[in-house]
Amino acid sequence: MNSLNQDGLPELESLRLLLKIPMEDDIDQVIAFFDRNKDFLKSTSPTPAIDFNTRSYWESTLSDNRIGFRGGRSVKLFIFYKTKQGLAIIGEVNFSQIFRGVFLACKLGYKIDREYQGKGLMKEALQRSIQFCFEELKLHRIEANYMPNNDRSAGILHSLGFTIEGKAKNYLKINGKWEDHILTSLCNDLV
Ligand SMILES: CC(C)(COP(=O)(O)OP(=O)(O)OC[C@H]1O[C@@H](n2cnc3c(N)ncnc32)[C@H](O)[C@@H]1OP(=O)(O)O)[C@@H](O)C(=O)NCCC(=O)NCCS
Repeated sequence: MNSLNQDGLPELESLRLLLKIPMEDDIDQVIAFFDRNKDFLKSTSPTPAIDFNTRSYWESTLSDNRIGFRGGRSVKLFIFYKTKQGLAIIGEVNFSQIFRGVFLACKLGYKIDREYQGKGLMKEALQRSIQFCFEELKLHRIEANYMPNNDRSAGILHSLGFTIEGKAKNYLKINGKWEDHILTSLCNDLV
């Protein structure tokens, strides 16, 4: 399966979705996604940067994401939903802090538009992107962590085969407060 475009950047296709790093033309859609989901995402997200909803912030962030992929440090993709009118941005999957050597591991984060929750779309996005990380990037371990009250996040990780490894106190600063997290991982036995 060819998962890279002519610029050497990932474009991962599944039945209903395309996962890729947005280009200049997509930035208005990126900003609109975060704007309409501001309240929904607040309780599970770090406090955003002050200029988070500006084009200049996203020009620089998306450029960093392209550099990060080429440098082997991250795979940060937006989820584009195939509609009759074209591609609509409905979420994000981020594989960050990729370490190679004897670790071959990374951290996973994800979010979907409130309107598109519960339709199996995030599961589809994660299945495709995990396949890319395991089969093409040859990673061995993906770590994903969630707050104990985040039942949806627990459910999707469980349904993808992630197993619980423990609980970390005050693990991440979410919405301005240090929050405990359940630690999980999925391993690739073929590497
Ligand atoms: C977490 C989130 C991505 C889940 O998205 P979603 O649209 O519900 O995911 P899907 O529809 O693809 O569901 C996938 C699986 O989760 C399970 N699931 C969904 N809601 C659940 C719930 N409330 N409790 C338990 N399992 C649940 C489904 O049963 C499904 O598994 P299955 O196919 O084996 O039946 C979404 O709620 C979200 O973006 N939340 C805000 C951001 C966030 O919390 N990110 C994660 C931070 S750790």
